[in-house]
Amino acid sequence: MQNFTYHIPTKIYFGKGQISALSQELKSRAKKILIVTGGGSVKKYGIFDDVLKEVKKAKISYIELSGVKPNPRLKSVYKGIDICKKEGVDLVLAVGGGSVIDAAKTIAAGVKYKGDVWDFFENDVACTASLPVATVVTLAATGSEMDTFAVITREDTQQKLAFGSETSRPVFSILDPEYTYSVNEYHTAAGIADIMAHVFEEYFSNYSGAAVSDRIAEGLLKVCIQYGPVTCEKPRDYIARANILWANTLAINDLLDMGKVGDWASHAIEHEVSAIYDISHGVGLAIIVPNWMKFTLSQKTVKKFAEYGVNVWGIKKDKDEMKIASAAIDRTRNFFNSLGLPSKLSEVNIKGDRFAEMAKKAITSHGQVGSFKKLSEKDIVEILKMSL
Ligand code: NZQ
Ligand code: ZN
Repeated sequence: MQNFTYHIPTKIYFGKGQISALSQELKSRAKKILIVTGGGSVKKYGIFDDVLKEVKKAKISYIELSGVKPNPRLKSVYKGIDICKKEGVDLVLAVGGGSVIDAAKTIAAGVKYKGDVWDFFENDVACTASLPVATVVTLAATGSEMDTFAVITREDTQQKLAFGSETSRPVFSILDPEYTYSVNEYHTAAGIADIMAHVFEEYFSNYSGAAVSDRIAEGLLKVCIQYGPVTCEKPRDYIARANILWANTLAINDLLDMGKVGDWASHAIEHEVSAIYDISHGVGLAIIVPNWMKFTLSQKTVKKFAEYGVNVWGIKKDKDEMKIASAAIDRTRNFFNSLGLPSKLSEVNIKGDRFAEMAKKAITSHGQVGSFKKLSEKDIVEILKMSL
């Protein structure tokens, strides 16, 4: 196990009715807040009303930035930064899914930075200060409510890049599983694929000996396999929504990284796909991840895939490792399909004509793609072709 520092300071309010903690939290931290929302779901389903009641109770003022799109755009971030600077905002509250939270994080970081906020994404400038960010989560997928990252799309160059900073980790997050009841089946399923992909990115690693992280990872995958289908079939099942929501947070809040180094190749590849074609991130992952697994499986990696097959899917140990590994990959693909997710890029109207460009951009943005298996541009094109 490698050395690590464990410090995940986001305060989590989890469960039914936890929105009641919002007024006190806001009152103690801010006088004027920016509330960031998406395309209207939080208003349609009453979540925004709950938030406003708390804001009024706290006797603080607020300004709203609505209309943040899935795969959030840099333009909406610039707009939020302008508002915050002009109005003297001292906290940014995201009410929504990962897209809204990521826009909020980037706005909060941009307010404290003299240059162009895009420098954090493209030019490796370290983000060292941010307004405090808080979240009310409405969709289980990205875990952005407790992690350091934000992913933003720059439309004119079709770049979708991430930055991460400890100063961007939300100060508190409210997770009420009932707020996720209204998420439709498609986005619920995409979210489950995203959660599982986050676990895979950290689980498949060349660093052996981090058994604590690995056994927690397997547990989270089992929770997704048990409760994922229930959330799709019975969207108002509290236990299922609650377990998926908490698994979503733990999958990417750094807990699974402790003592090892993750891979993150599937994410690097998917971000290039959604940068150009604007598909849901989790849908892209459901297509790419099983192909990344197939491409990565070799004599060198088979042990880890077999461990996954036995410990997560309950495949009997008596077969040879390669057979267990292949069966585990098939089970992964079949599970995503059972949630109604596509298995081919062509099913979401993507043709193969820009694969070389996407592979090149992935390498340029990340320097190195993959760690469990290091991928070249040619390898990335091959995985994309397998996904077509
Ligand atoms: O726009 P609204 O009206 O809010 O509707 C959204 C959107 O259409 C809807 N939705 C959200 N909560 C709802 C709801 N509909 C009904 N009821 C609710 N309670 O769901 C749709 C998708 O929302 P979005 O926020 O885009 O989804 P998600 O949470 O999956 O976020 C995806 C974005 O996060 C990035 C992705 O790349 C993508 O840009 N990621 C962020 C990460 C991070 N910050 O750590 C890591 C991830 O790997 C990922 O890359
Ligand atoms: Zn993801």
